[in-house]
Amino acid sequence: MSAALNEPAGLSAETVAELHSIAARYPEPRSGLLPMLHLVQSVSGRITPEGIEACAEILDISAAEVSGVATFYTMYKRKPVGDYLVGVCTNTLCAVMGGDLIFERLKDHLDVGNDETTEDGKVTLEHIECNAACDYAPVVMVNWEFMDNMTPSSSVQLVDDLREGKEVTSTRGPRICTWREAERVLAGFPDGRVDEGPGAGHASLVGLELARGNSWTAPTADEARRDAKTRDSGTAESKAGAAAQADTSRAETETKQEEGNKSD
Ligand code: FES
Repeated sequence: MSAALNEPAGLSAETVAELHSIAARYPEPRSGLLPMLHLVQSVSGRITPEGIEACAEILDISAAEVSGVATFYTMYKRKPVGDYLVGVCTNTLCAVMGGDLIFERLKDHLDVGNDETTEDGKVTLEHIECNAACDYAPVVMVNWEFMDNMTPSSSVQLVDDLREGKEVTSTRGPRICTWREAERVLAGFPDGRVDEGPGAGHASLVGLELARGNSWTAPTADEARRDAKTRDSGTAESKAGAAAQADTSRAETETKQEEGNKSD
């Protein structure tokens, strides 16, 4: 069962209380581990041993189990992260559209390598895998908010603006907050910015526009079920037909072989 609201080293009583409140949101408290780890990052700037111990104690699981989760997902950081986590997508599509160039330019400009933080503690740079925003390639993310259709020079401008404290707005999202603030949101404590910015960009809406222009509509649930049934029975029939055809061919081949053996 849950431990009392004591205060593990390095975490305030308020944070421990919030960790408990996250665990209490779920019928199975251990389901709260992921947002709890985000809360630890929001206050400690990374996953600390104290944070791991606190989560383990509250959820009545072992520190090894918490550590296993924290080291599995790349959103959990074992090293301190700067004010802005800048992720450059270098997966295939973004890479060929300029993601590799952006990453190289930012490494030079910021004088850091992958997963390293600038000396002023402002920017941590990392290359990231596909963020399901390929229609806006190449994509850069700041604290998990999208910056679409980037170039090497717009990426340099972006990190310069962040380091100078200018207000930066995501292409399809809100004003950019700090990484720790974003981590608190991921822990389930809203910052009121959820409705800022457009929810979807033009590239994502092209399919919808095409469908409307052609008066295409999605089938109802009943129609979809009927279609699936027809498809399934058609597949079963064609499989049965193919099997019967194969049997016939095999029988014909065997007959021919037998006739050949007799004439020998
Ligand atoms: S390859 Fe970059 S978002 Fe998909």
